[in-house]
Amino acid sequence: MRMNPDNRRLGLIKLTLFIACLLPFGRLLWAAYTNDFGANPVEFVQRWTGTWTFNFLLITLCITPLRSMTQMHWLLRLRRMLGLFCFFYATVHFLSFIGFDHEFVIDEIAKDIVKRPFVTVGFAAFLLLIPLAATSSNWAIRKLGGRKWQELHRNIYLISILACLHYFWLVKATALIWPIIYTSAVLTLLAWRIRERKRKAIPVPQFPAATPLKFFRRKPE
Ligand code: HEM
Repeated sequence: MRMNPDNRRLGLIKLTLFIACLLPFGRLLWAAYTNDFGANPVEFVQRWTGTWTFNFLLITLCITPLRSMTQMHWLLRLRRMLGLFCFFYATVHFLSFIGFDHEFVIDEIAKDIVKRPFVTVGFAAFLLLIPLAATSSNWAIRKLGGRKWQELHRNIYLISILACLHYFWLVKATALIWPIIYTSAVLTLLAWRIRERKRKAIPVPQFPAATPLKFFRRKPE
């Protein structure tokens, strides 16, 4: 593939990615259609959507380092879609929680959010995702201004840390392997960003401006 695909190719890549991003949701619909949710359907849906929310969070966070390492700048144009899919799966995850666990009873939902720390943390991550999804359009970027938009979207780092805590808190001590793997991935991606920021902050050595040669040119004898 060429380093920078033209608009038609990029459109094709985007379409393929869009379909691929829908596959986990399709799997859920298929399980509903064939009644293949296993012994505990609620657990299946919550785990599936939770896992895919986290997967999309990680994939979205991978775009910047990948682009920097490969110089494939067009990757940046896929980031918005990936981020929105993260929000989409988080919303389905949240809906499955309020629907299956609490039958949409607001009182019950609020009590659970306050009572169970892993739900509190997951809920905080979800709340923080909302403004990011809401300001993902070009219009919102223009309205906010690049700097403010970037500052707001840095919340993705906090969200990813909350997602790790949520995961650690909810699994039993015997099943820590997956939270450890996901957290290692998050920490690696955050460490890469910190290193990049430090690297960019190192001032470029300033050399004195070259003195115009004409002042040194010897007059013809
Ligand atoms: C960025 C947001 C979120 C992420 C990344 C996330 C991620 C996850 C993950 C990875 C799992 C476990 C999957 C597994 O065991 O294989 C999970 C389970 C769960 N999450 Fe979330 N979650 C998020 C938000 C929320 C929110 C907003 C709620 C509810 C308010 C919530 C409630 C739950 C529940 C009830 C479970 C199932 C726990 C169980 O199996 O007993 N999550 N989530």
